[in-house]
Amino acid sequence: MLLEVKDLKVSYGNIEALHGISFSIDTGEIVTLIGANGAGKTSTLLSLARLPRPEAPVVSGGDIRYAGESILKTEPHTLIQKKMMALVPEGRHIFGNLSVAENLQIASFPHRRDINRANIIGENLDLVYSLFPRLYERRKQRGELLSGGEQQMLAVGRALMTGSNFIMLDEPSMGLAPKLMYEMFRALKQLNFVKHITILVVEQNAKVALEFAGRGYVLKTGEIFASGTSQELAENPDVKKAYLGG
Ligand SMILES: Nc1ncnc2c1ncn2[C@@H]1O[C@H](COP(=O)(O)OP(=O)(O)OP(=O)(O)O)[C@@H](O)[C@H]1O
Ligand SMILES: [Mg+2]
Repeated sequence: MLLEVKDLKVSYGNIEALHGISFSIDTGEIVTLIGANGAGKTSTLLSLARLPRPEAPVVSGGDIRYAGESILKTEPHTLIQKKMMALVPEGRHIFGNLSVAENLQIASFPHRRDINRANIIGENLDLVYSLFPRLYERRKQRGELLSGGEQQMLAVGRALMTGSNFIMLDEPSMGLAPKLMYEMFRALKQLNFVKHITILVVEQNAKVALEFAGRGYVLKTGEIFASGTSQELAENPDVKKAYLGG
């Protein structure tokens, strides 16, 4: 397993947001974590990424193993610097005053010590621009002037620039019109297929997430409510009723 989460409990102050959840992801899989508002999806991703953010929750129990090793004691940022994982956070987080090209360039910081970094960064940039031609057209435009959908593409592009083979996305469909949403998921699927990038995608839009992912877990108020292949989940009566509109 690439990632194994066991009995994970996380809290904000004395409020526990995850009450001991377990799930795993194998190399090359696309796995989705679905659930309603406040179910704990973002809390899960923030604890996996171990970002030093004031709003990040504190892990109070259980373990997170990456390639067999616990990552709970690693220093913040190491996972991203070591190209072990990249996070496309909720709400995009791009630099509004920098151009598209600059946003992508900055995100390639994990490559800064690589001997052949110019080539690697160039290749990653080609990849991002080929997946999202719109970003190439807008490469000189300031981030804040992009449409919501373009900003979402840029956020995904930034994750690709890190060179990680494991990408986590927090609600990539948020705010996208259906056409753009399907384009986004098609691009991600292509990345998984062609570049063998492992993907964990958090979604409130269960229908789309289950079309896209191979397997999934349903999170409900901090606990795993159901799990299985996407087909099993789509056919599960409880999941259907609560998340797929009957
Ligand atoms: N910074 C915070 N401080 C205190 N409580 C928080 C904080 N962030 C989240 N919570 C609480 O933790 C629980 C899980 O929130 P989380 O953001 O993980 O949900 P979510 O599934 O991502 O929801 P959404 O779909 O709305 O993004 C909620 O009850 C929420 O109120
Ligand atoms: Mg969230």
